[in-house]
Amino acid sequence: MIIGVPKETKSREKRVALTPQVVKELIGKGFSVLVQKGAGEGSFFDDDLYSSVGAKITDYQTVFQTADIVLALNTPSDEAISMMKLKAVLICFLYPSSLACSLKLIEQTGISVFAMNAVPRISRAQKMDALSSQSNLAGYKTVLLAANAFGKIFPMMMTAAGTIKPAKVVIMGAGVAGLQALATAKRLGAIVEVSDIRPETKEQVQSLGGVFIELKGDNTMITEGGYVKDISEDFLLKQQALIAEHIAEADIVITTALIPGKKAPVLITEKMVKSMRAGSVIVDMATEQGGNCELSELDQTTLKFGVTIIGESNVPSLLAADASQLYAKNISALLLHLADNETFFWDFEDVITTDSLLVHEGKVPEYTKIN
Ligand code: NAI
Repeated sequence: MIIGVPKETKSREKRVALTPQVVKELIGKGFSVLVQKGAGEGSFFDDDLYSSVGAKITDYQTVFQTADIVLALNTPSDEAISMMKLKAVLICFLYPSSLACSLKLIEQTGISVFAMNAVPRISRAQKMDALSSQSNLAGYKTVLLAANAFGKIFPMMMTAAGTIKPAKVVIMGAGVAGLQALATAKRLGAIVEVSDIRPETKEQVQSLGGVFIELKGDNTMITEGGYVKDISEDFLLKQQALIAEHIAEADIVITTALIPGKKAPVLITEKMVKSMRAGSVIVDMATEQGGNCELSELDQTTLKFGVTIIGESNVPSLLAADASQLYAKNISALLLHLADNETFFWDFEDVITTDSLLVHEGKVPEYTKIN
């Protein structure tokens, strides 16, 4: 089977779905690989590196028209999907809004689609978990973005010229990104407080040296499979009131709170931003889902009431070389679970297949449960 790797077209995207190293491994397993010219440039993998391991460098049309399997990061354009062969397979990040707009097309094209974001988070699928690999890197980088915009240092420093107090960092959301941000900020010497509404995160936060901001859960909070599914407006208001004083005291606030398939909860209101000291920094990692801070703007860095608010939506792309390396391992692990170099197995008893398969030969299977 022929694998095609397109150059990502989403703005600000520097990652690539396969690295030369992973291309080499897949060719070793009998696949042929077509790589679009310049696909790896943003991650510092030039065309020669791909050619040297046996990939063929080609143009955009050839990738989509010839490949049996297209491996990408973001959902390709409708135009690109319409060029794909009948029964070809696309594997990439794909969310329902883009699925809805391309669904008619996918039906007509008769392709199958596996979504990286729908791979179940079970132990045997850990090596395919691109949500975790990318969030982990993003959590690290947000701290550096914040440190760079902050006019002070993180650690306490006692010098002959006086003592500098350590920075206080507040992190909202203790998922994969939030925990990595905690570990990174601690390593830089900050005092870190973390809040999440899943009670089990308390121990995880404390084990990394963070102070947990305790929130009483209530019966309006619904969890499923380790995720928060929903919370009420009332709960959110109580939460805002409780965290307000922590935010007012913070030098840096990093927000990573997400509810899969829903708008991100607003945790920081305009009033709370006004309460912060001039020179403080907010990094809102949820801007693509509407933002955790009322004042953040998608992909913009703004200064409001003396507070720098960073709304970068694609943080993993700022670490494109490492992010591509991990993503390539994730996507090839999923591919090798689903197929060999001759055929896809279509094992409908396997939860990795059924959870991640959003469209099978042009049709949405009844069990598709991505939200
Ligand atoms: P995410 O990126 O969807 O959400 C980030 C965090 O925001 C979550 O911890 C969530 O509880 C929190 N959050 C939501 N609303 C909030 C609010 N109002 N205030 C404060 N925090 C709020 O989550 P992520 O990082 O993708 O993973 C979340 C879950 O998946 C966890 O249970 C994690 O343990 C689990 N997981 C399991 C894996 C495995 O077993 N292989 C791998 C990775 C994650």
